Amino acid sequence: MLRHRVHSVRRRLARTRRGSKAITKSVERHIFLAMLIAITFVLAPLAGLGQKSSPVAPARAQVEAVVREAYERFKSDTGGKNADYIPFLAQVDSKLFGIAVVTTDNQMFALGDTKYAFSIQSISKVFSQALAMEELGPDKVFEKVGSEPTGRAFNSVFAVADMPTHTGNPYVNAGAISTVSLISAKTADEKWNKILDFYSRCAGEKLSLIDEVYKSEAATNTGNKALSMLLAKYDRIYADPFESVDVYTKQCSVGVNVAQLARMGATLANNGRNPATGEQIIKAENVPYILSTMTMAGLYDGSGGWAWHVGLPAKSGVGGGIVAVVPGKGAIAVFAPPLDEAGNSVKAQKVIEYVANKLDLNLFSPRSVGLKGE
Ligand code: DON
Repeated sequence: MLRHRVHSVRRRLARTRRGSKAITKSVERHIFLAMLIAITFVLAPLAGLGQKSSPVAPARAQVEAVVREAYERFKSDTGGKNADYIPFLAQVDSKLFGIAVVTTDNQMFALGDTKYAFSIQSISKVFSQALAMEELGPDKVFEKVGSEPTGRAFNSVFAVADMPTHTGNPYVNAGAISTVSLISAKTADEKWNKILDFYSRCAGEKLSLIDEVYKSEAATNTGNKALSMLLAKYDRIYADPFESVDVYTKQCSVGVNVAQLARMGATLANNGRNPATGEQIIKAENVPYILSTMTMAGLYDGSGGWAWHVGLPAKSGVGGGIVAVVPGKGAIAVFAPPLDEAGNSVKAQKVIEYVANKLDLNLFSPRSVGLKGE
């Protein structure tokens, strides 16, 4: 009797253990399922948000191959002529040729004369526009300077007289001098140092003035002084006109090599955060305004043709540099001194057009986001 009882208790105990094991297994199954759902619907999209490079960015090997092809194809091109209205620029070796690509995940590929420091010239205007927007916000900068293409040469007096805004945009000389006048500082020196520091942070390296370029331009910039006085007539300059021209002349004389310039471009491509140093230099919300001005006016009266053929925001300088930005992916900078009639480097335009076409970078093409249309 007693033995029977003991057996029955043992059987019940065993059943309870089997039951609780089954419950544990079912709870485990539910937890596993919940984790799977979390990973699929919550964590995966978040991982996408945090990713550093675009899912449609070309692979490094592909970029290298296309950049090498472009370098070989255009290195002997003899089109164009060095700028000579700034005497120093006429002396620069017109065979110099360098290309650099920097991606938003901080990969760099550079080829040719990558160490030569050339004067940034008008490319500086992009970063002074950015600095003015950091201080005043985009609406104020748009109101005080604007972002309208002039359809005229970058140093046009007629554009200042004819355009309703007079300043045009921050990339023509008049608009750029006006933009410099907006940047706050107690003295001209303080303003200049602030500008140089801002450019250096965008480049991820300390930049400096090329003194010979500055002296050469300062001795011959009567046209820019005239523009500043014309701006004063229309109340479109916001600090002392000649002092603004002087700081502007210094900012144009900053030396950069192609690698530094590509990093400045990649900072724009990366929502204003320098991909090398990780520093947020330009407010992310300001970047689209900057890229829109680059698209409309980055290559002056060559901007329409550039948008047509290449479809990337870019900026040129009479020193021979051009930087083009591929939002979310990176930037390409090319340096080659001979320029076309509009003041844009001939070789740099050809290289960037070639690379953009081969890698499907044109922003106006659905191919740039992976829609091949086959
Ligand atoms: O003021 C100037 O004329 C020069 N410092 C800058 C002009 C310039 O780079 C035009 N670019 N294509």
